[in-house]
Amino acid sequence: MKKIIKIKRTAEKGRQFLEPFLYEGDGNETVIDFLEEINSRSEIVNADGKPSQPISFNCSCKEKKCGACAMVIDGKPRLACTVHMRELKENALIEPLSKFPVIRDLSVDRTIMYNGQETLKAWPEAPQEPMDTDAVRCLMCGLCLEVCPNYIPGSSFTGGAGVAGAARGMDSTDAAHTKDVKKEYMKHFFRDCGQSLSCVRICPMNIPLDKLQARLAKKK
Ligand code: FES
Repeated sequence: MKKIIKIKRTAEKGRQFLEPFLYEGDGNETVIDFLEEINSRSEIVNADGKPSQPISFNCSCKEKKCGACAMVIDGKPRLACTVHMRELKENALIEPLSKFPVIRDLSVDRTIMYNGQETLKAWPEAPQEPMDTDAVRCLMCGLCLEVCPNYIPGSSFTGGAGVAGAARGMDSTDAAHTKDVKKEYMKHFFRDCGQSLSCVRICPMNIPLDKLQARLAKKK
């Protein structure tokens, strides 16, 4: 199987451009395998035969456990370690997430998500036992914010990750902490959520964010 895959890259001064790379294989490799294979070539040459540079991207576990490899593949935000090359179109396009600052190529800066978790006090002071098993599955991959029509890049709206974070934060036996989390949750999620539920549909961990919202609404 041969495909020409276009990758959105970063040139000097942050200018973005598309660069084609040849994929040859049986289609069973993941997108992460393909990116690693390009970077392992002794001489990196693009599909036009021109010399190129290693591609920057984030990836840690390659097992859908870290969320680092979120990117836009063929127009869909996905975890690259879960997408096989056979699923891509002949002329597929791989891009970085569009709602986060691009560091380089496919690598983005998700600091704003971590700041949001801090604002929400998403780590309980005195955890209840057992903790909510849905909320702890959040990978902080950013796909929920990428697809959310209510998230404006740079805003303090925390999206689906904020719902999971607040659910963790409110799993506390410390009433004052729970009250603080609820206050921040109302400000940084509830007030601006338009209930599109796009975060529920995209979440790679299938976290029932709508059910978590209902649970949070009952908390005092
Ligand atoms: S590399 Fe960890 S989720 Fe894809």
